[in-house]
Amino acid sequence: MPGRVQGKKVFVTGAAQGLGAAMAAALAREGARVALADVNFPGVQQQADALNARHGDGVAFAYELDVTDEQQWIAALEAADSAMGGLSGLVNNAGIAGGKGGIEEMSLADFRRVMSVNVDSVFLGAKHALKYLSRSQPASIVNISSIAGLIASHNTPAYNASKAAVWLLSKNIALYCSKKGWDVRSNSIHPTFIDTPILDPLRSLLGKGEAEAKLGRQVPLGRIGQPEDVAMAALYLLSDESRFVTGSEVKIDGGISAM
Ligand SMILES: NC(=O)c1ccc[n+]([C@@H]2O[C@H](COP(=O)([O-])OP(=O)(O)OC[C@H]3O[C@@H](n4cnc5c(N)ncnc54)[C@H](O)[C@@H]3O)[C@@H](O)[C@H]2O)c1
Repeated sequence: MPGRVQGKKVFVTGAAQGLGAAMAAALAREGARVALADVNFPGVQQQADALNARHGDGVAFAYELDVTDEQQWIAALEAADSAMGGLSGLVNNAGIAGGKGGIEEMSLADFRRVMSVNVDSVFLGAKHALKYLSRSQPASIVNISSIAGLIASHNTPAYNASKAAVWLLSKNIALYCSKKGWDVRSNSIHPTFIDTPILDPLRSLLGKGEAEAKLGRQVPLGRIGQPEDVAMAALYLLSDESRFVTGSEVKIDGGISAM
């Protein structure tokens, strides 16, 4: 039986661990070829090797990419398009929580760093991938925002602002592509707390059990999510099952935003 994304060729950023690695694995399992990119090259090479061992050589490719660097984006996309024989999907996933304190405490340098990794990345990725994606229609862009892009808190100004920017930028890209007459869709995913290394600072502070229980208590379903919960949404948005879905947002939040 063909997989849900059989024949798709998808570029995933931040794929050395966490959500990026889980999305790349789900895509490979469902028949896609995947380009895994990360600033952590040994990590992304290891993930690609594991996927090739599981699914056969030529399924996964690894690229070193700092998503804030325009020249690196141009080189990695060109290499991935040529290695995979096209590009029909882009997942802008790489992101950082970073930046300490409320708005009075946070330094401008910290604010700019978070905005650069979380927002410049989506701008640069879409800007330079569209020439390839528009040659491989139907194509799909998935941007990983956060529930923190829709709901603010008192002490994460850079993260809130950056993820809200990703939300609207995703809609802008969707409308740009439609206006061009391209069947290239663009959507955002908004997870709440998911079990990845991004939660490690809190785990170090409170201990693993207490940290996860504390976060879980804020979620109506009573627990934090798993990377596979987000990967399933990405799989849908990258497949043709979602062919009429663009400019939309998918919340993977255990009910937090319903409150
Ligand atoms: N895990 C959560 O609770 C959660 C919730 C909502 C949104 N998100 C978002 O999901 C995305 C992935 O998060 P995660 O939980 O897997 O985090 P993670 O820290 O486990 O993984 C992030 C990956 O991005 C890479 N990365 C960081 N900066 C980079 C750069 N400049 N260039 C290229 N790669 C870079 C890291 O090396 C790492 O492999 C992020 O955008 C994050 O904001 C995560």
